[in-house]
Amino acid sequence: MDRIHAVENMAFTILDEIGDDVEKMEAVAHLTAVAKFSYLLASRRNLNPELAYIAGILHDLYAFTHERKDHALHGSVLASGILRSLNIFKEDEMDAVISSVRHHSDKKRIHDPLAEVLKDADVLDHYLSEPLLQPSVKEHVRLRKLQKELFSPD
Ligand SMILES: [Fe+2]
Repeated sequence: MDRIHAVENMAFTILDEIGDDVEKMEAVAHLTAVAKFSYLLASRRNLNPELAYIAGILHDLYAFTHERKDHALHGSVLASGILRSLNIFKEDEMDAVISSVRHHSDKKRIHDPLAEVLKDADVLDHYLSEPLLQPSVKEHVRLRKLQKELFSPD
């Protein structure tokens, strides 16, 4: 099994804890969308798309199965446990994913490039899931930059 599917299997097994089917579906939809956007953005920015995808799958796992309060920090601990238990990642690969998950809620500040990919992918899915909602100021700034990056001719 490839590493993406190994992580997805564990993440989706954890999501089975959610009793409500609609909630579970929303969780899978958001995590999968953010993973795919992360893959796309990482490829464009010459970063590791596999690790970006994995960060996307893991980033809100804690929020969906526990609570939103401090979910980035708690989620990074959960992500660390999952990655370590699989025993298929190098130390620096795990550090990169865990750091991205830990920082993903801090959309106002700039962190390492993989964390920025995850934040942008998260903002993109918030926007595309509810395009009629006015994005918050911090999301609006990221969205404008993303529109330029993705849709302006090189
Ligand atoms: Fe998210």
